[in-house]
Amino acid sequence: MTGAAGTGAVGTASAGIPPAGTGPMLEVRDLHVQIASRRGLVRAVDGVSFEVVKGDALGIVGESGSGKSMTLRAILGVLPPEARITSGQVILDGQDLVPLRQSDLNRIRGPRISMIFQEPMSALNPVMRVGSQIAEGPLIHLGIGRAKAAERALELMRRVGIPDPERRYRAYPHEFSGGMRQRVMIAIALACEPEIILCDEPTTALDVTIQDQILRLLATLCRETGVSLVFVTHDLPVVAQVCQQVAVMYGGRLVESGPVREVLHDPRHPYTLGLVRSAPDFDNVRESLVPIPGSPPSLISPPEGCRFHPRCKFAEEDCLVTEPPLRLLPGGRATACLHHERCIEAIEAERAAQ
Ligand SMILES: Nc1ncnc2c1ncn2[C@@H]1O[C@H](COP(=O)(O)OP(=O)(O)OP(=O)(O)O)[C@@H](O)[C@H]1O
Ligand SMILES: [Mg+2]
Repeated sequence: MTGAAGTGAVGTASAGIPPAGTGPMLEVRDLHVQIASRRGLVRAVDGVSFEVVKGDALGIVGESGSGKSMTLRAILGVLPPEARITSGQVILDGQDLVPLRQSDLNRIRGPRISMIFQEPMSALNPVMRVGSQIAEGPLIHLGIGRAKAAERALELMRRVGIPDPERRYRAYPHEFSGGMRQRVMIAIALACEPEIILCDEPTTALDVTIQDQILRLLATLCRETGVSLVFVTHDLPVVAQVCQQVAVMYGGRLVESGPVREVLHDPRHPYTLGLVRSAPDFDNVRESLVPIPGSPPSLISPPEGCRFHPRCKFAEEDCLVTEPPLRLLPGGRATACLHHERCIEAIEAERAAQ
């Protein structure tokens, strides 16, 4: 992934551009999603742009309600009926998916792009045998016969670490544990060899040890198969473990992006700084956690200027009126803060005090 792309990105365009011939697998450009609700129009995704390079994993982090799931759903074309993409592009390997009809999207979902949800039980069919659910995609999309599709499902079950696949092929989802069900979801997501898999908090519902196994599995599969991942999570250590790149969302907008290590250890946006300082078990240079004061903005009538300004300890007068564009920084990084150098000063002062 490179940092910023499309509208709102200014600065050195060469920062983070992949070498020739390895263009982005997925490019999201100035994406806007609005949801009609009784209280008004929710601007759930408001001008988000990013890129994912082949074989890379991009983490999307941000507080609850910042628009992470809506971004993923918009990419896959599975928004709830009250939500719609009002503008922007989702370019998969050169093709914009936004104007496509559902019937065309159905041909893309599975063989080119797939998704793993937080709760596998709601995504799996409770009355269909697990093996058949894994075999279904290859049967429909790869034009192979039943026997070959079943063979492929067994091979995938082995690959994602489901023990005794021959026996388990005929089991139903309720006969599997949460971790095993998530392995089934991963097998389904991989079944048609997609170019990219979108993961929405795929391990949140699992206990810590199982979480770790699933994350390792995803990271290994990503490395071995060259599939790209977009990985939504609240969990910063998980992003650091699985992803090379990270994008930080706040109030429906992307506020910072770049290589994981640099962004999470040396943030260039006060919101990222707050997120890192409030995350347990993440930045062990601190002794105590500092929660971000205040609450997330309304996405029906967000604050003028920078959406983070009411909670930002560095806010100045211009932050109240000027909406900061996502600016490219050296090293493939980008930030949407008018005064990002204040983060550098704060981090340096903290380190000097230790
Ligand atoms: N069906 C809906 N009707 C109205 N507003 C909605 C609906 N679904 C989501 N929203 C709003 O859209 C915004 C973005 O929601 P989204 O689910 O993308 O957040 P998220 O970042 O995934 O949060 P979480 O971390 O809790 O999963 C939120 O403010 C949410 O309240
Ligand atoms: Mg979500």
